[in-house]
Amino acid sequence: MRHLLSLADWPREWIEETIEQGLQIKRDPCQVARALEGRVLLMLFQKPSLRTRLSFEVAMLQMGGHAIFYDLGTSPWGKGKESLADVARTASRYVDAIMARLFQQADLEELAAHASVPVINGLTDHEHPCQVLGDLMTIREKKGRWRGLKLAYVGDGHNNVTHSLLLGGAKVGLNVSVGCPEGPDFEPDPAVLQRAREAARQTGAVIEVVHEARGAVAQADIVYTDTWMSYHIPPEERSARERRLRPFQVTADLLRQARPDVVFMHCLPAERGAEVTEDVIDGPHSIVFDQAENRLHIQKAILLRLLGPRAPV
Ligand code: CP
Ligand code: NVA
Repeated sequence: MRHLLSLADWPREWIEETIEQGLQIKRDPCQVARALEGRVLLMLFQKPSLRTRLSFEVAMLQMGGHAIFYDLGTSPWGKGKESLADVARTASRYVDAIMARLFQQADLEELAAHASVPVINGLTDHEHPCQVLGDLMTIREKKGRWRGLKLAYVGDGHNNVTHSLLLGGAKVGLNVSVGCPEGPDFEPDPAVLQRAREAARQTGAVIEVVHEARGAVAQADIVYTDTWMSYHIPPEERSARERRLRPFQVTADLLRQARPDVVFMHCLPAERGAEVTEDVIDGPHSIVFDQAENRLHIQKAILLRLLGPRAPV
């Protein structure tokens, strides 16, 4: 059974082929217009979503299938009345694939262990692989390659998007420099860093973590940031986090440390004035809405890889 739980599990070839197919689908969406006719995707949510929900739902509709949105808070599991294993076994009898946005990566793994259909990680506290497949597609589209480019991620490094960028970037040969405050609350998970560095040995990618924003961004081709208040962070932590993260805000001045043709990326939702200033996210280097659009094209390629039949690459 093929799942997409973590980019650590996906070989480089799958990543590259899926992105290649995403680019082809973007050029000619009609080629896959009936590829998933009659197929059903179940979308389980424990957290809010705009992009992930809409892009998966539209992707299924545009390929002739259907998607069901299900708020897990209203499920028997959410009410403490049923195990996740039984949810997985039951849902597998009705649907062709399950996409889940959960808090715990361990819960996602439990779901996948008991499902007899493919399970897709639609974001956990630990990883966001669909986002990063779309992001790597966007980088490929804008810059024509990954190898030799430098992506500087600045801000909260102990973050699902950062983890997937490290794992995915290392596998395709993209250099990833994380600029974040010191300490386990803000630095990437050491186990993710180790996996990324192992993958980087195969591709020659440079993976580094520094505690200074300007150093991270120096000569970068891509500057990336994410919210300081991820969905799972309690609101009472806001002011303490803002104090630590403020030196890592992406400003026009910081962006000037990067290459002149730098692109600015953000997975969204963004908080203007926190992790990024308005002039940057709405400025000429920003590609955040092209990036958001590519979620749709890459979701189709992910679904086709896991559900087939695959359109010719
Ligand atoms: N980037 C992303 O996953 O956005 P949503 O939380 O709106 O799905
Ligand atoms: N790190 C963010 C990503 C949102 C798409 C979060 O988990 O809320």
